Amino acid sequence: MLSDKDRIFPNLHGHDDWKLAGARRRGDWDNTKDILAQGRDTIIKTIIDSGLRGRGGAGFSTGLKWSFMPKKEGPLPHYLVINGDESEPGTCKDREVMRHEPHKIVEGALLAAFAIGAHTAYIYIRGEYYNEANRLQVAIDEAYEAGLIGKNACGSGWDFDFYIHRGAGAYICGEETAQLESLEGKKGQPRLKPPFPAGKGLYGCPTTINNVESISVTPTIMRRGSAWFAGIGRANNTGPKLMAISGHVNTPCVFEEALGLPLKEIVEKHGGGVRGGWDNLLAIIPGGTSMPLLNKEACDTAIMDFDGLRDAGSSLGTACMIVMDKSTDIIRAITRISEFYKHESCGQCTPCREGSNWVLKVMKRMTEGRAEIEEIDMLMDVTKNIENTTICAFGMSVAWPVQALIRNFRPVMEQRIMDYKKAHGGLSQVQVPVDAP
Ligand code: NAI
Ligand code: SF4
Repeated sequence: MLSDKDRIFPNLHGHDDWKLAGARRRGDWDNTKDILAQGRDTIIKTIIDSGLRGRGGAGFSTGLKWSFMPKKEGPLPHYLVINGDESEPGTCKDREVMRHEPHKIVEGALLAAFAIGAHTAYIYIRGEYYNEANRLQVAIDEAYEAGLIGKNACGSGWDFDFYIHRGAGAYICGEETAQLESLEGKKGQPRLKPPFPAGKGLYGCPTTINNVESISVTPTIMRRGSAWFAGIGRANNTGPKLMAISGHVNTPCVFEEALGLPLKEIVEKHGGGVRGGWDNLLAIIPGGTSMPLLNKEACDTAIMDFDGLRDAGSSLGTACMIVMDKSTDIIRAITRISEFYKHESCGQCTPCREGSNWVLKVMKRMTEGRAEIEEIDMLMDVTKNIENTTICAFGMSVAWPVQALIRNFRPVMEQRIMDYKKAHGGLSQVQVPVDAP
């Protein structure tokens, strides 16, 4: 378990002052000039050595991503973009940072921008986070006023400007290249990769895009050292991590915990246990709705980190868990997720646009049992033809939840179909009118 002294976000729950005075008392902005004086290469190396993996969901090495930026400033400016779109259902960890630790974002932005050679950073905040954007703006204004950012930031000789851009409600603008399009004032639709943003990003210039949490932890890593961060968790899965628990637990919350602990222990400690006890657990989606659900058997032994959840058949994603007890209609729950993704598809790729619509229609019938048993395999086939055939990872978000449902709960789906037939005199869904009672 994470000890209090190892917490990066002591004010995560807002018990203390979130403004500059409070942030300074907690150690933020402490000798930032000295950190900058270590130079760009040292900062990048420290972040690589810490093992920090992107906290937005994909888990790509943050320091390595910074190292992809051109070493010297060329004719084109470099940009830092901070992804605060946080739209993955069940995910609300970055919101708490914006609310209660906004100066960690501002200081982290300065360090990251300096490390990648950028004088300008944008943070893209989801439109619904209205109050959070206002609070961050206050922190940015305070930092400008105190000379921490702006011309000659912290007296370092580095000029740094930081701007907030608010989104307008499209989930896909959380995808990094769609976010760049949106920042440029265009319709938010993902670009083909490569080129990756480090080569051609915002306005065609070298750009690094990092999640809010990834940026916010970098000042603490620079102060306490890479070995401290790498000493928490386990190899390849280092550091404390913000996590959240929602759904059928006794105390839903956002919290900070070490990676590498058993999922069960985390649900019991932070979530106050599953409603009705662990044996009443049906399934957990471990990291936002894109990720495959784990059945109870898998949850019994799963380890909460990148490798542990991969081994269990899912993924850490945003580390924001959705817990479902045995009262859940699991087919209906996944259908609701399919509905979300169908609605949010940007429509560029045929497999995603048409496939998400098709998947939803079949899932709706599956929820009622108004289907044929053979259609379960057909549904699986369709999802297989969506994943990896699309421009962005959204196609996988359409496919994975449904695939996991079929893998884990096929008997429930079959039973639903048989029950429907029984209730309708053995008739198949084709023979029964859609609006039949
Ligand atoms: P990705 O694996 O394609 O990329 C991850 C990062 O590494 C990107 O910044 C990418 O540019 C960089 N990268 C990967 N390979 C590279 C290479 N060869 N050269 C240079 N850079 C490279 O994943 P993606 O599409 O960025 O993110 C998907 C994840 O996002 C999902 O796993 C999901 O968990 C998460 N997600 C999070 C949401 C949230 O609200 N926080 C919302 C939706 C999805
Ligand atoms: Fe748009 Fe879906 Fe294609 Fe991504 S996979 S670009 S969301 S249509």
